[in-house]
Amino acid sequence: MSEGAAKKEDKPRKFQAIRGTRDLLPPETALWNRVEQTVHSVFATFGFGEIRPPIFEATELFARAVGGETDIVSKEMYAFEDHERPDLAALRTTIAYRNPDVLNAWSVRLYIEQVNEFVRAFEDAIEKREIPATPDNLRALDDLKNQVPRASMIGTDPASNVHITGGFDPIIAGIRELLRAIQFGDVITLRPEATASVCRAYIEHNMQQLPQPVKLYYIGPMFRRERPQKGRYRQFYQIGAEILGGTDAPAIDAEVIEMVMTFFDKLELQGVQLDINSIGCRDCRPKYVELLRAELLKVKDKLGPDSQRRIETNPLRVLDSKLDSEQTIIAKLPHIADHLCEDCATHYAAVKRQLELRGVLYRENWRLVRGLDYYMRTTFEITAAGLGSQNAVCGGGRYDGLVELLGGPPTKGIGFAIGEDRLILSLQESEKAQSRVTSHQSLLIYIAWMGQNAHATAIRAAKDLRNAGFSVELPPVEQKFGKALGQADKLGARFALILGDNEVAEGLWTLKTLADGSQQKLTEQDLLDFLRKL
Ligand code: HAM
Repeated sequence: MSEGAAKKEDKPRKFQAIRGTRDLLPPETALWNRVEQTVHSVFATFGFGEIRPPIFEATELFARAVGGETDIVSKEMYAFEDHERPDLAALRTTIAYRNPDVLNAWSVRLYIEQVNEFVRAFEDAIEKREIPATPDNLRALDDLKNQVPRASMIGTDPASNVHITGGFDPIIAGIRELLRAIQFGDVITLRPEATASVCRAYIEHNMQQLPQPVKLYYIGPMFRRERPQKGRYRQFYQIGAEILGGTDAPAIDAEVIEMVMTFFDKLELQGVQLDINSIGCRDCRPKYVELLRAELLKVKDKLGPDSQRRIETNPLRVLDSKLDSEQTIIAKLPHIADHLCEDCATHYAAVKRQLELRGVLYRENWRLVRGLDYYMRTTFEITAAGLGSQNAVCGGGRYDGLVELLGGPPTKGIGFAIGEDRLILSLQESEKAQSRVTSHQSLLIYIAWMGQNAHATAIRAAKDLRNAGFSVELPPVEQKFGKALGQADKLGARFALILGDNEVAEGLWTLKTLADGSQQKLTEQDLLDFLRKL
């Protein structure tokens, strides 16, 4: 191999962020921070407290809450088995799939010895909770303990040789099957959403004993294996809020919507459009779904393959279709609002009245059904400007019964989640928000120092200025003043604090305003006073 070729091969791999994920970088992160600070302050004024649930949970939690037939659960989850004992799992794989030569008593004895060793370690690991003590695992352990002594008779018991010679030994086959059924870890999933986690936490911490309702909000990353595009990522961020317990009074639905709208207002988000709908309850929705299915079957041939499939799996989702060719067909389908039961119709009318009382503008959208199974009655979605096809910046709704579905007491629930990435995109599109970001950037002071005495003074000055809350850049090595001022300019500093031998000796520091080049001499105290007044 030539030297050149060798060099090429040695070149380390260039890593890139995984598809659908990205780095959030300065200065954009300043906007993220401003948005999140606004969340904390606005949501607190509505009585919400922050919850920080873990990023992964049992897969079963999301499957049950979000629904097995949904896109999220059926296609998009990052799920994996979490092993605490990969060594035991590997040993299991070896012995569960290895087939001893059952005609050879020696090979069977070795095999049984290995199974025995495994069963002892397995029992020990279950006791130490390193492997989950699920009913299936406990049963497998018991059965293995029964089977192994029988198996150890093979080759010693003349009677058992009879069926060994008959071919594959059923006792060993049974053992192999038991081994394969063992589950070594919890099957867990990177959360695709957080409503399920918040309900799990509500139950786990007996929050039904707190004054109701419990109002919680969260900010954090979610994970869905979707096809990445503008505004759609595989790791994205949500700002969400949930109200659990208490009543399902329509004023609660309206207030939670009012809170999102207030928040968007504070951020001066442009082109905000709120759509609302009611999708009924366990009593009236199934009847509507059947009616919809019957109507869809009549026009099945005119629908695309996705909608055709959904006639069977989830007819409501057909209403979500964006296919041009389906729009006129969908427009003629029956509206759910005309098929709500009396309670749902009354609730929906009251939610609208409550929104009006709060001055919240809305548009009714009978096709708004949402893509998660837990919703009932009120659903809503908010779109904003500058987002293209992925323009839903917030989605939410009522989910009475979800807590119960997850093993908790009957509990009312409603909430929403904002797509933070999309919110930021929309804010960036509107210049107004951008100019606000700049004005929020901290005032930077660049310390241009020369000489060892000046360095000591500069270190102390940096400490005092930072303690006073100013942003300071202190070069680690000496620079000529010209170079230092150039660097200060590049960093966008507003001031350069010039510290040379003269300044240190006089105790008077030179502050240069970079925009106009003007200079003034100040004592340290005067400098702090001057900066504070800005
Ligand atoms: P969702 O509609 O699935 O609802 O998501 C809410 C918002 O998250 C969407 O409107 C969108 O802005 C953002 N989002 C979703 N997927 C992505 C993605 N791949 N990339 C970027 N942004 C995305 C829920 O998650 C419910 N848990 C909301 C809720 C809370 N309902 C009641 N409480």
